[in-house]
Amino acid sequence: MPLLQPHVESILKSAGSSGKSLFDASVLTSEVLGNVPEGLAVRPLHIADFDKGYLDLLSQLTTVGPVTREQFNERFLVMQHTQPTAYYVVVIEDESSQKVVGSATLVIEWKFIHSASCRGRVEDVVIDANMRGKKLGALLNRILVALAKNIGGFLKLL
Ligand SMILES: CC(C)(COP(=O)(O)OP(=O)(O)OC[C@H]1O[C@@H](n2cnc3c(N)ncnc32)[C@H](O)[C@@H]1OP(=O)(O)O)[C@@H](O)C(=O)NCCC(=O)NCCS
Repeated sequence: MPLLQPHVESILKSAGSSGKSLFDASVLTSEVLGNVPEGLAVRPLHIADFDKGYLDLLSQLTTVGPVTREQFNERFLVMQHTQPTAYYVVVIEDESSQKVVGSATLVIEWKFIHSASCRGRVEDVVIDANMRGKKLGALLNRILVALAKNIGGFLKLL
């Protein structure tokens, strides 16, 4: 049973192009990004990444199954509307092929323990088979750790 389905289309229609980004791209500062190889863009997951091979990429990590565009949009909106943001899915786009060739997720987990703190976890790191061995996995991990440190400044991240 879809969670948001009746509202998904109208929410998507009313969202501007920045509203179609999973999270505010300004948190990926130049300090967080560091040196990104030429021809690649590191950015938040975008709703249009459904058409840029995002699910094919994830299927190189684990089973994805038959996820329709509607299911993708709905899940995207659920993640996008967490408050404060809990899902930072950071992707690498190959600018020449316009395909998503890398992805990793920083998940912010809210706790009662440790004085009602929260924890950042890096999950679902995957690099396209044709792009492996170029330190892109390491790049995404480094970026997510730097992002977690920045976010931790205002969230009391463990
Ligand atoms: C694991 C994965 C993300 C690595 O991406 P990559 O861009 O090829 O890795 P890098 O080039 O950044 O390698 C960084 C380091 O990790 C090591 N490494 C790469 N893949 C590894 C693996 N599967 N197991 C252990 N170490 C690995 C490299 O040898 C390298 O070590 P070095 O710095 O000492 O030379 C990629 O192989 C992949 O997508 N695999 C399928 C999905 C997966 O298993 N994801 C991880 C679980 S969440």
